[in-house]
Amino acid sequence: MNKIVFALPGNEHLSESITANINAEKGQLIIRNFPDGESYVRVINNVAGKEAILMCTLNNPDQKFLPLYFLAKSIKEQGAAKITLVSPYLSYMRQDKKFNAGEAVTSEYFATLISSFADELITVDPHLHRRNSMAEIYSIPCYTLHAADLISEYIRNEIKKPLLIGPDSESEQWVSKVAAKANAPFIILEKKRTGDKHVKISIPHTEKFKDHLPVLVDDIISTARTMIETIKHINHSGMKAPVCIGVHPVFAGNSYEDLKNSGVSQIVTCNTIEHKSNGIDISRLLSSAIKI
Ligand code: R5P
Repeated sequence: MNKIVFALPGNEHLSESITANINAEKGQLIIRNFPDGESYVRVINNVAGKEAILMCTLNNPDQKFLPLYFLAKSIKEQGAAKITLVSPYLSYMRQDKKFNAGEAVTSEYFATLISSFADELITVDPHLHRRNSMAEIYSIPCYTLHAADLISEYIRNEIKKPLLIGPDSESEQWVSKVAAKANAPFIILEKKRTGDKHVKISIPHTEKFKDHLPVLVDDIISTARTMIETIKHINHSGMKAPVCIGVHPVFAGNSYEDLKNSGVSQIVTCNTIEHKSNGIDISRLLSSAIKI
């Protein structure tokens, strides 16, 4: 089936590489706002009988969702055979249970919405915390890719004598894999989140790693509080200024500047979301999944 790649606003760079890698047609779109703020969406190409690949990373999802939905509906109506949604960062994965009475379990509702218009979803390291698989909430086929090997490759090639640091017990599974492939030791910290912007971190004894370069690795950097709290402890323990590596550079508000000013030596992220910290390219990973 012929493939046509549509880049939603903000996804142009990654879409360009992917379109070239898989030798697909480039989709042409007009997406803009009417003066009253409503969305206008127009597809220029003929999509009949084709697989439409919609590239839309979903940070700030509330703004992005309606144009994406309108585009998918319109493309289907114009005869596309299949809608594949590629969301390198998938939002609404963290509110996966009711922490307080009356709370909306938004990960389920969002999954139901996406499953209602996409035929397939491809994403990178979704935040599956209390869930074992995407199939628990998504009713369409979901392909979950992992940036771990690319991060290991980056660490192997760019960082001398690294000590990998995972911020919490959830991160152990994949930080240990990144460390193994990077031929590096790792430690896992204990984290307690006490509010949206507050976390408490405890760090184990690190004397034997004094000569190493600490490399904090996390899936999401959102408020950056997890990394900033960890860096405070690292600085007190007399270790070198750390490198921070994140898969998804969500960077809410001023968090990127806050992190830059917290005593780091470098911040590197994957381009699942376009950001000036991008240093690890995931386009080959996505291209090979889309090609199948
Ligand atoms: C949490 O479970 C995730 O793995 C990250 O540690 C978390 O999302 C980071 O968030 P923040 O940057 O807001 O501390």
